[in-house]
Amino acid sequence: WWPLALALLIGYVLGSIPFGLVLTRLTGAGDIRRIGSGNIGATNVLRTGRKGLALATLLLDAAKGGLPVALALAWAGPEAAAVAGAGAIVGHCFPVWLGFKGGKGVATAAGVVLVLTPLVLVLILVAFVAIVWATRWVSLGSITAAALAPIVAWLVGDPTAAGLYVLIAAIVILKHRENIGRLLRGQENRLSFGGRPAS
Ligand code: G3P
Repeated sequence: WWPLALALLIGYVLGSIPFGLVLTRLTGAGDIRRIGSGNIGATNVLRTGRKGLALATLLLDAAKGGLPVALALAWAGPEAAAVAGAGAIVGHCFPVWLGFKGGKGVATAAGVVLVLTPLVLVLILVAFVAIVWATRWVSLGSITAAALAPIVAWLVGDPTAAGLYVLIAAIVILKHRENIGRLLRGQENRLSFGGRPAS
């Protein structure tokens, strides 16, 4: 059992590093939790107008999901890799360092899915990009991609990954509940590259 416990712990610790918050603070862009949606993810970092910072947040948040999964896969096999992935998502969404108030898990999940099932990532990315391109609602693209992931993983014949993606989808959708409220009221923030703080 200890390889699974270690995978969970390493996943959680890496996942809990709030790169969006750290990068915006270090570069003087302010406290990301007081800007736009208040989320610590790359979409909200983009609302500061700092595109490079948003890209760095996206890549680092994805890397902290992919890295523990890759390590666990190499050292302890697919079951430990799935546990490490779950740990990373829980760490990002509920980091102990921020009073368990973290991000929405999308970039970190992308890193996990990339390592476990690259084909699934490609297929759900197509849906994500199409929705964001058409609506400029990143949240709607994220929710749809998260919901599609377990179905696509099942269809490509990976039930272990599908089980993990059900858990990830549940967390991602739960963390988007305010976005869902805004979408239903027609008040959701659109993707913006302009740097004006959205409300
Ligand atoms: O990945 C987060 C995205 O789906 C929504 O971000 O800042 O618009 O709530 P935000």
